[in-house]
Amino acid sequence: MRDRLDTIARTALAEGRAAGAFTCYDLATAYGVVDAASEAGQGVVLLVSPSTATRPYGFALVRSLRALADHAAVPVSVQLDHASDLDLISRIVEAGADAVLVDGSKQGYDGNLALVLRARELLGPDIVLEAELGRIEGDEDVATLIASDAGQLTDPSQAAEFVRQSGVDLLAVSIGNVHGTYVGDPVLDHARLDAIAATVDVPLVLHGASGLPGDTVRRTVASGVGKINVNTELRRAVLQHLVEAAPAALEGGANLESVLTSWSDVARRQVLQVMEAFTAP
Ligand code: 13P
Repeated sequence: MRDRLDTIARTALAEGRAAGAFTCYDLATAYGVVDAASEAGQGVVLLVSPSTATRPYGFALVRSLRALADHAAVPVSVQLDHASDLDLISRIVEAGADAVLVDGSKQGYDGNLALVLRARELLGPDIVLEAELGRIEGDEDVATLIASDAGQLTDPSQAAEFVRQSGVDLLAVSIGNVHGTYVGDPVLDHARLDAIAATVDVPLVLHGASGLPGDTVRRTVASGVGKINVNTELRRAVLQHLVEAAPAALEGGANLESVLTSWSDVARRQVLQVMEAFTAP
């Protein structure tokens, strides 16, 4: 069944955990993600990156994800991730996304706020909006080996006012987290997260969870993170599997069905594994 993303995050928080949000570039992965969530009995979020959304098949993929969400046994939301182009946002919401991360994080406080307000005006009250305050560095689609230094950290003194003025339903924080590969040991500013959580009454979102130790993730959940975004670890698991499965499938009569089935299963197992760290200690 489909549900609002903020409801999925609030339910998770009430149960002492965070909801998982996983980037899906294709239907086989998305099927595995929903399968894992059903097995765990938890709501889940299917993330669509803006690079996928702009592909010729982006609209159709979002339609398919929406159908997957509508027919799932657990609550599922389809979210367009990190989007700042209002035309793209409208098209993908029309395709079936029911949540958007309206990303004005590169535009400073006022520009960020103005973008979120424009998106709200355009989309109406039923579409769930997440915003990012501060700036999370790194590439959302490619894990590079170039050092990704933490971006501009979220200022706790701005967080409550931003949420109030923008009316966002969830807030993504920048506390030392980056998208993609961490070079060196990741260091999250837990005191900053606690200070933000103390003033904000919407669920907080942790991006860039790939590569963070389980204990670090659990600590953020204890501080009030209600949604955790994962891309790189899932992408890597799928690609690694394809490298191993493709030669045997080619030799066995070019059997694509078997590869797609095992692809979904690898995604399912990877999601269950990373979700183990999504419960507060
Ligand atoms: P990772 O690729 O680091 O897991 O980050 C994913 C993310 O935050 C998507 O919004």
